[in-house]
Amino acid sequence: MIKIAPSILSADFAALGEAIARVEAGGADLLHVDVMDGHFVPNLTIGPPVIESIRKRTRLPLDVHLMIEEPERWVETYVRAGADLLTVHAEACPHPQRCLSQIREAGARAGVALNPGTPPGVLDYLLDDVDLILVMSVNPGFAGQSFIPSAYAKVRQLRTLIGRRATELSVDGGIKREHAAPLAQAGATVLVAGSAIFGSAEPGEAIREMRSASEVVKLA
Ligand code: DX5
Ligand code: ZN
Repeated sequence: MIKIAPSILSADFAALGEAIARVEAGGADLLHVDVMDGHFVPNLTIGPPVIESIRKRTRLPLDVHLMIEEPERWVETYVRAGADLLTVHAEACPHPQRCLSQIREAGARAGVALNPGTPPGVLDYLLDDVDLILVMSVNPGFAGQSFIPSAYAKVRQLRTLIGRRATELSVDGGIKREHAAPLAQAGATVLVAGSAIFGSAEPGEAIREMRSASEVVKLA
């Protein structure tokens, strides 16, 4: 069954605890936390203290997406703050294998994200070092952007590259209910969604609808 990871970037930051409680009660599988530094991406969000506070509020695994330069400097800090999965951008790491090993050694599962223009082949020799691949279906930096359809082909190629490994294949950016079925069919195992979930009056309902939309095609 596909996992749904609500992205808190689209939640009301002044009422974050309640927003998280709603998606947890609504059946979210992971909580996606976007960390932006204003350099790697043109926006700034939250850092370790907020993640520590979130960690105390929820049992959901924290799927922390670092959109920051020099992520290797921050790995231990984010794992200590509570990240269960820590994802760094391939474009931000000159030595991604070292950075991914560092994440596992710190005690978290290691993820690597690819911007829309980055080919899947950059992961050819990293597949055994990575627990999650995050395919960006928007240019990272903001919630509420439109889904870029070239992500479908990238997900299919990565599904083939992953082979029999248990690596999660996650997609992030602009995902609405109509994308769930084709993404599941292409081989995605996690769907990250911000505005489609927190922009809904009923976030739990939005999670269930997205999950059932993805299942229709898997059964077909
Ligand atoms: C974009 C972030 C996404 C974003 C998703 O840079 O990485 O996680 O919050 O939000 P939507 O689903 O609204 O595109
Ligand atoms: Zn994200």
